[in-house]
Amino acid sequence: MESMGKLRRTNMCGELNIEDTGKEVVLMGWIQKRRSLGGLIFVDLRDITGLIQIVFDTDVDQEAFEKAEKLRSEYVIAVKGTVHERQSKNPEMATGDIEVYAKELKILDTAETPPIYIKDNDDVSEQMRLKYRYLDLRKPFMQKNLLMRSKTSKVIRDFLHEEGFIEIETPFLAKPTPEGARDYLVPSRVSPGNFYALPQSPQLYKQLLMVSGMNRYYQIVKCFRDEDLRANRQPEFTQVDIEMSFVDAEDVMEINERLIQKVFKEIKNIDIKLPLRRMSYNEAMDIYGCDKPDLRFGYELKNITEIFKNSEFNAFKSVCDQGGLVKCIKIDGASEDYSRKGISKLEKFVKSHGAKGLAWFKYENDTFESPIAKFLKEEEINELISQLEIKNKDIVFIVADKKSVVNTALSALRIEIAKERNLLDKNKFELVWITDFPLFEYSEEEGRYIAKHHPFTSPVDEDIEKLETNPEEVRAKAYDIVINGDEIGGGSIRITNRKLQSRMFKALGFTEEEAQEKFGYLLEAFKYGVPPHGGIAYGFDRLMMLLTGSDSIKDVIAFPKTQSASCLMTESPSSVTKEQLEELRIQPIPQKE
Ligand code: AMO
Ligand code: AMP
Repeated sequence: MESMGKLRRTNMCGELNIEDTGKEVVLMGWIQKRRSLGGLIFVDLRDITGLIQIVFDTDVDQEAFEKAEKLRSEYVIAVKGTVHERQSKNPEMATGDIEVYAKELKILDTAETPPIYIKDNDDVSEQMRLKYRYLDLRKPFMQKNLLMRSKTSKVIRDFLHEEGFIEIETPFLAKPTPEGARDYLVPSRVSPGNFYALPQSPQLYKQLLMVSGMNRYYQIVKCFRDEDLRANRQPEFTQVDIEMSFVDAEDVMEINERLIQKVFKEIKNIDIKLPLRRMSYNEAMDIYGCDKPDLRFGYELKNITEIFKNSEFNAFKSVCDQGGLVKCIKIDGASEDYSRKGISKLEKFVKSHGAKGLAWFKYENDTFESPIAKFLKEEEINELISQLEIKNKDIVFIVADKKSVVNTALSALRIEIAKERNLLDKNKFELVWITDFPLFEYSEEEGRYIAKHHPFTSPVDEDIEKLETNPEEVRAKAYDIVINGDEIGGGSIRITNRKLQSRMFKALGFTEEEAQEKFGYLLEAFKYGVPPHGGIAYGFDRLMMLLTGSDSIKDVIAFPKTQSASCLMTESPSSVTKEQLEELRIQPIPQKE
């Protein structure tokens, strides 16, 4: 064990217990707090395993006691002493049954008063936490999160090795890609004007490894995406990246279910039943309005468009006439929980998600109450009550608009209501595979089809003929794993045919020359014998958020970036010298005032 002068650490603070009574121990760590009580000084000593109380008593050792008078928070010490059973036990503390009577004290380092408290649930700003990250990481919950992260990656590695996967590293200095998120670029000094990109994922490398015959590959790897950041996104994040040869989608899902099952068992001691539930993309969109449904609670979306085909309520009728949808969510027995004020807050909420309004009705003691009641015909009201199986004290929220707006607004409302009603239980885990994704989605911004997953995802065989004629109807051999409403991982079976890959690039709007320039090496590789292959990548940080119950992705990453992709501790990104820029032949364009 570590040695400090004559003292060698014998134990970790949090690992001692009543059975160690009488033992002489040497502990090392930081001072959590110090209290003086006449001839006694009590110190809580902290290391990564937890806290223990140390007692300095003039009767035990005068010299140690005198040195202990100098101790302050966060001093680093080594202490030798004997474990005693405590007279007044502290049930709040894991080691609360015992204390260590100090015989010898060595101050290894002093410390200034830290700018943030070293304790969980401190309401210090995120800015301070990130600026003093090394202190923030002294907090027990952060240490627990990182320990769990390390343990989880070991469980994953062990599982994959047992299943015959080989860990292979792929380059970080990679080729820029035109698809997906924005790249982080790295200028080349020796080839001025040219750039590498930090990989958004090792997608093509792992496919080429399959061409190489590596059979089963994995890597726990950093990926880089210059995209708008949200609560569960970081510009650099970690994937558990997997690829397998001679498999179909069923094979990939089967092995990954077992991997996830193992992770939940080993890390949370939770038994996940296999096979996991599956839901098609269309079903998820119809019932939950999104492709990553949170299945911990109900509140399914109901389509009530038919009822309003001939409505006199213009907002609904015009939506129906234009081929839009009227959908709703029913909250059973909750009418009394929603005042006008509460409803108007929800209306604002759906408007912030693109909806034009939020209609609602309550049904209380045979009375139908709604701001739109006066526009509705008796038969429409009766139809609503019977189709939605309305009971006393139910409340229903309705949005009418084009399909995408209705789904976006109501799926967000569904989560918002569940949040308000405390239904987002962090100890409950609902896992589901989402399958049968469309291969493409139309990008209004780019005025063309883009790949829903990525351009290397294989279309479903019977849909290939529609690639040019009806691209929006082509389904993909893709699957996402969704846990509690979060996309934890996604993958697909890949295109392995040169001609089909070229058709795919064409459908995405690339000319042959562009496809050749960007992906020529892949098309070249496809000439030399390609095994059928497919895989998946997990967002490891997101998985860790779930397993640790964290609300922020930053709480499972040692040194995360802020919302504006900067590191407050090291103050990066930062300027570089003129010489460095000259060497790279880069000239910044001055910002316009
Ligand atoms: P995809 O782009 O879906 O697939 O990424 C896989 C998983 O990575 C996580 N993820 C992120 N996590 C944190 N911050 C981000 N900015 C971020 N972006 C993505 C998500 C997501 O499910 N190469 C393919 C995988 C494959 O086909 O095998 C890929 O990268 O949890
Ligand atoms: P208005 O007649 O526009 O004041 O709307 C009456 C009620 O219907 C209000 O509660 C609006 O929020 C709601 N409403 C209006 N348009 C829509 C819509 N497209 N979808 C759902 N509710 C709407």
